[in-house]
Amino acid sequence: MSRVVVTGRIPEVALESLREAHDVDAWDGDGPIERDELLRRVAGADALVTLLTERVDAELLDAAGPQLQVVANVAVGYNNIDVPVCRERGVVVTNTPDVLTEATADIAMGLILMATRRLGEGERIIRRREPWAWGMFYLLGSGLQGKTLGVIGLGGIGQATARRARAFGMEITYSSRSACAPEVAEELSAQRLDLDEMLATADVVSIHCPYSDATHHLIGAEQLALMKHTAYLVNTARGPIVDEAALADALAHDRIAGAGLDVFEAEPKVYEGLLDLDNVVLVPHLGSATIETRTAMATLAADNALAVLAGDEPPTPVH
Ligand code: GLV
Repeated sequence: MSRVVVTGRIPEVALESLREAHDVDAWDGDGPIERDELLRRVAGADALVTLLTERVDAELLDAAGPQLQVVANVAVGYNNIDVPVCRERGVVVTNTPDVLTEATADIAMGLILMATRRLGEGERIIRRREPWAWGMFYLLGSGLQGKTLGVIGLGGIGQATARRARAFGMEITYSSRSACAPEVAEELSAQRLDLDEMLATADVVSIHCPYSDATHHLIGAEQLALMKHTAYLVNTARGPIVDEAALADALAHDRIAGAGLDVFEAEPKVYEGLLDLDNVVLVPHLGSATIETRTAMATLAADNALAVLAGDEPPTPVH
């Protein structure tokens, strides 16, 4: 029996599968575990099942000890984990790709609709009990049909978002480190552009690339200035890909038409300058937040941890 530490609440079915074979210590407090508590709990762990709110670094690995074999992140993004340090110490890192693709693309499409059709703004008017009446020019937004969606990072989630956008009548352009498979380009009629050209021509820009040093503030003042005044920016990937201060400034001065954000630079904090703007939709990192998806993510993370503890190749290692 190995010691498995689960650093936050996860669906019971995943915990059960871990408990069948191992001694499981699962944090079940509300909200993210305090760092001190985390460092204390991981001592002697052979496997960690981590949430994206936990920083996995040399300090945490030291606190766990040299017997640690695997860190199984319950997320597709793993920027919370220092992968090179894990690798140096022979600790396998795994993530949960694919199972959250559709749920996250749903939220991206939802934000596109909310931003372009001013749904949050309208809802706030009603909730503030302000007078309103149907009017020919009341709260007019922008239609999507015939417009262009520019996708940054045409991986699984980017493709799933593009597929939805196609169903809404949009054309697809994308900017990505590498060209997508020819059959994907054909299915989506997707045209690859360099980032600047894509930003200058898209009506909606949706971010789906991983976060790393290379994508930190990929969208800053300079890039926002390239976008059309009528364009929208949506981010369901990671907050720090966008310079929030620059975005708030662009939105406040109507340099772009609007934005939809599911992720933030310093979660759970949201940049103060965004909070009073009506042309931005703000939701609290809900990309994968469905019962089905969270269950699939936790189950996959448990399977990853179980595989490594059994001496097998995990289903979804981070390479
Ligand atoms: C969520 O943000 C994830 O990376 O899974």
